[in-house]
Amino acid sequence: MDMYERIMEAVDFIRSRSTLEPRVGVVLGSGLGGFAGRVAEAAAVPYENIPHFKRVSVAGHAGRLVLGKVAGAPVAVLQGRYHYYEGHGIDDVVFPVRVMRMLGVRSLLLTNAAGGIGRDLLPGDLMIIRDHINLMGLNPLRGANDERLGPRFPDMSAVYDPGFQEIIAAAEAEIGLTPKRGVYLALSGPSYETPAEIRMLAALGADAVGMSTVPEAICARHMGGRVAGISCITNLAAGISRAPLSHREVTETAERVKGDFIRLLGLVIPRLA
Ligand code: HPA
Repeated sequence: MDMYERIMEAVDFIRSRSTLEPRVGVVLGSGLGGFAGRVAEAAAVPYENIPHFKRVSVAGHAGRLVLGKVAGAPVAVLQGRYHYYEGHGIDDVVFPVRVMRMLGVRSLLLTNAAGGIGRDLLPGDLMIIRDHINLMGLNPLRGANDERLGPRFPDMSAVYDPGFQEIIAAAEAEIGLTPKRGVYLALSGPSYETPAEIRMLAALGADAVGMSTVPEAICARHMGGRVAGISCITNLAAGISRAPLSHREVTETAERVKGDFIRLLGLVIPRLA
């Protein structure tokens, strides 16, 4: 069975669980899964029930696809994502995004937890991703291209839709936040960076660093979807503060900004529809 057939099998299964036709897709990052509780739920499907979805392992991640509505907009929310560092193949990491697209999702909102490199970024900030740098050492589109999914050489000159960036900035201002935009750089992880690596990433033009999002964004663009990205800055990157990094700090900061994050998504999602 080729990838296209696997995608369609998952799509058929999900459609057998709910007739809702999602227009906006959302991927909730580490510690940010609480937003799923705000979806007027039509169906919630554990990943392990969906054909060709892998099991999810990381603490702080549930693993279910929630279909429902947010302020009237039909959404598909991935509560928990597959990370490359867990050992999954990159095809498995991006598979849910491909499935959401084939379910009818046109706009994809990717969220993540990230370390802040840029001088004006502080823990708790919700950074609007304006571009990315792929340093994961791989590309999810490697291998034979299936023209039913997208072109061999997709354009990446505006991955994060400029109009969507404006929508997020306006919504942040509405809830009293100062919009900050930046470049997200992805490494494969799972170790955090060294201070020397962070100095290098700063020189390369990165404002935030994390271990996800970029493969999903590439696939969504490949398939012609419009993409938005928000990084929850959970910590200052290594060496920027003297404190050692910990996953606990990441989840604690995500928990602290949960209220703002949920309000922000509540405003943004219907405007992406
Ligand atoms: N580095 C990489 N990934 C991360 C970080 C970090 O500092 N914080 C949250 N995810």
